[in-house]
Amino acid sequence: MPQITWLSADGTETSADVATGTNLMEAAVAAGVRGIHGDCGGALACATCHVATDLAWAERLGSPGIMEDEMLDMIDGERTPTSRLSCQILARAELDGLVLDVPGPA
Ligand code: FES
Repeated sequence: MPQITWLSADGTETSADVATGTNLMEAAVAAGVRGIHGDCGGALACATCHVATDLAWAERLGSPGIMEDEMLDMIDGERTPTSRLSCQILARAELDGLVLDVPGPA
């Protein structure tokens, strides 16, 4: 079960062991991560699950899908080259140790 860490904009650090196959928005909400809301339930309609990583992790996560990419263009905050929507990332063993930045509002 991979351990995922979220670094919220207010400095809060939250870590959780996430069951394989769970999307990382749901895992964040369950863990009480500040700044992740998941308002649309993972339907790619809200972008309130925006996260970013360092470049090494971004390569392991892969590129956003077409719909995710379009939604990322509409986020409230700043989109970065490694921005992702965490509802589109499923926990898997090779993500153990993943650190996700949770951007603050613009
Ligand atoms: S939870 Fe709405 S886009 Fe991810």
